[in-house]
Amino acid sequence: MSKVKTLGQFIIEKQSDFPYAKGELSRLLRDIGIASKIINREVSKAGLADILGEAGETNVQGEQVKKLDLFSNEQMIAALTVGGECCAMASEENEDIIPIDNAQSATARYVVAFDPLDGSSNIDANVSVGTIFSIYRRTSLSGPGNTADFLQRGTDQVAAGYVIYGSSTMLVYTTGKGVNGFTLDPSIGEFCLSHPNMKIPNGGKIYSINEGNYVHFPDGVKKFIKWCQEEDKPSKRPFSSRYIGSAVADIHRNLLYGGIFIYPTTSTSPKGKLRLLYECNPLAFIVEQAGGKATDGFGRILEIELNSLHQRSPLFIGSTEMVERAEEFMSKYSSVELKN
Ligand code: AHG
Ligand code: MN
Ligand code: MN
Repeated sequence: MSKVKTLGQFIIEKQSDFPYAKGELSRLLRDIGIASKIINREVSKAGLADILGEAGETNVQGEQVKKLDLFSNEQMIAALTVGGECCAMASEENEDIIPIDNAQSATARYVVAFDPLDGSSNIDANVSVGTIFSIYRRTSLSGPGNTADFLQRGTDQVAAGYVIYGSSTMLVYTTGKGVNGFTLDPSIGEFCLSHPNMKIPNGGKIYSINEGNYVHFPDGVKKFIKWCQEEDKPSKRPFSSRYIGSAVADIHRNLLYGGIFIYPTTSTSPKGKLRLLYECNPLAFIVEQAGGKATDGFGRILEIELNSLHQRSPLFIGSTEMVERAEEFMSKYSSVELKN
């Protein structure tokens, strides 16, 4: 007997964790799994652009070649629209929400927010990218969903996850009962459980931040970076600096090895760069469920009030000890006015 457990089998098994579940959440996760396999197929062909046609051109099949972030967006929208378990979507690529107006969506109970392709500037260099998703229960009663359905706190998420298209492709998700990771076996086209019950180390030796922006950082972040670089044998400093530029990939690595990822406010981005709804909140939910911490430098990400779809937030996320250390520097050297 094979010991392989596929994502589909795992989801069905876990459905009993939710006594009143009718299988809708399971089907939503399945739909996202399907979209991510199609995105994976295209991402892995990215280097063939010269042969198959650049974005904006017509390919050999006479189809218009799309930029991968737009292609990924379309795949997510298509899978979730056809799936029938969600009544509206919000995407990094769309200014407004995408309501779903069909027979099933009138009674669908969920809304899904996503960043269809995270780290898209890395695509042409063959560096890891990802898809991030976040699922909420709708607050509206019926019909297609509306913007207010998305303006909930991160603590209200029912499920969140990411897919990383890297040296292998992995889907990692949580429904609030721990974190599980699945690796895509391309020979059978299935995500297989490879990282059950993922836990982030409590401490770590990696800090991930775009240090090129150093002069624009708040003093607390500057002092924290200098602390990471100090020589101190007992705490194994200096730490290593690792920054990919795809939040999914940086945070995935730190989840496995221990570390902190920071995208702070800068004088040029006074609210930070990353978006609360489809970047910070889902990543925070996953990292907390794995035993780590996620804050904006002063308070918990998941408790920030969301007032608009594309609202930004600073993000300090990763191993609990490291995030708490960074917060100490923030409260000592940076003003709380930097808070959202
Ligand atoms: P996206 O590709 O979805 O726009 O996200 C990019 C984000 C995030 O993944 C990454 O950590 C960060 O932007 C990198 O920003 P800098 O280039 O400013 O470091
Ligand atoms: Mn992104
Ligand atoms: Mn993106």
